[in-house]
Amino acid sequence: MNGLLEVEDLYVRFTTRQGEVKALNGLTFSLQEESVLCLVGESGAGKSTAGLTTMRLLPRNGSVVSGRIYFEGMDLLSLDSRSLRGIRGKDIAMVPQEPKASLNPLHTIGAQVAELLMAHSRLPKKGAMAMAAEMLGELGLPDPWEMLKRYPFQLSGGMCQRVMIAMALALRPKLLIADEPTSNLDVTLQAEILRRLKRFCKEFRASMVLITHDMGIVAEMADDVAVMYAGTVVESGDVRTVFDRPMHPYMSGLIQSIPRLDRPEQRFQAIAGDPPDMLNLPEECPFLPRCNRAINRCRIDPRPSLRDLEPAHQVACYNARSYEPVDGRGLGPGRMPR
Ligand SMILES: Nc1ncnc2c1ncn2[C@@H]1O[C@H](COP(=O)(O)OP(=O)(O)OP(=O)(O)O)[C@@H](O)[C@H]1O
Ligand SMILES: [Mg+2]
Repeated sequence: MNGLLEVEDLYVRFTTRQGEVKALNGLTFSLQEESVLCLVGESGAGKSTAGLTTMRLLPRNGSVVSGRIYFEGMDLLSLDSRSLRGIRGKDIAMVPQEPKASLNPLHTIGAQVAELLMAHSRLPKKGAMAMAAEMLGELGLPDPWEMLKRYPFQLSGGMCQRVMIAMALALRPKLLIADEPTSNLDVTLQAEILRRLKRFCKEFRASMVLITHDMGIVAEMADDVAVMYAGTVVESGDVRTVFDRPMHPYMSGLIQSIPRLDRPEQRFQAIAGDPPDMLNLPEECPFLPRCNRAINRCRIDPRPSLRDLEPAHQVACYNARSYEPVDGRGLGPGRMPR
């Protein structure tokens, strides 16, 4: 494997009063140059933790237990803070899930965007402000000059999100980690911003880890997809292959639920049963209590690890096999939801 970003067997935990939250449990995925990888999974699966660990921005109670993260062959987890500062923003940038919390409440938007631009270029303040206004305008923010004068609390969640996207793209990073970047936007704007992100990647030959729980966005945006469950990837590969032949029972369940004309609001099916308790993860497959395909081995052996089932397709399941639609509503082979 020699992708732009390689995450290998990553374990991350959070210390809380209730105990250790095992947020990432052997997370492994790979992002190729000039491509988009979607990280999907339900709430609590560890998607944001994966992004934050890559940026080395885990909150104080979070720690990496083991594992490696390589960016262009460089081990991000062993970099000192000075080298990190050189990379963050410039080579790798993140659009955080909570945009409002990530902006400084005491400074205007203009001051924050301009500061970022000036720190990495020789632009004078006036030039930086002009560039900031242009970038905000490109993301469809009305009256960008006016916007620059405002403080974060004067902006809606969707506006903050677009400011964060502008800041993330500002230095033309090679790798963009976008954590639910359009969750606060209406559908039309969402499509427009996603197109903008894709155009950015094409134009600057950048790659993106796009975190989402919207399978429609995955179908639109991804080259590759990695499906997370309980802090690990249970299925990954080329998006077409995975959508055509999902082999993990969890992913099969998700795929069955996509564009159902009778239930358009349901973008990410709530599969029966509850997600596992991350404070008390079992040794065996964490999907077992919700699985309708479990075999004896699933109850006896430790959780299965990812293995190649066909080219560009990895699955972590002892009973991996292709889903066959039983009621005619599933997506037959060769059909992608669009
Ligand atoms: N700072 C923290 N302290 C304690 N536990 C945390 C912290 N941050 C995340 N967790 C826990 O770690 C697990 C993974 O959380 P994470 O935020 O990465 O999930 P996610 O997939 O991004 O979910 P969502 O779709 O809701 O954003 C969850 O069980 C969560 O409660
Ligand atoms: Mg998250």
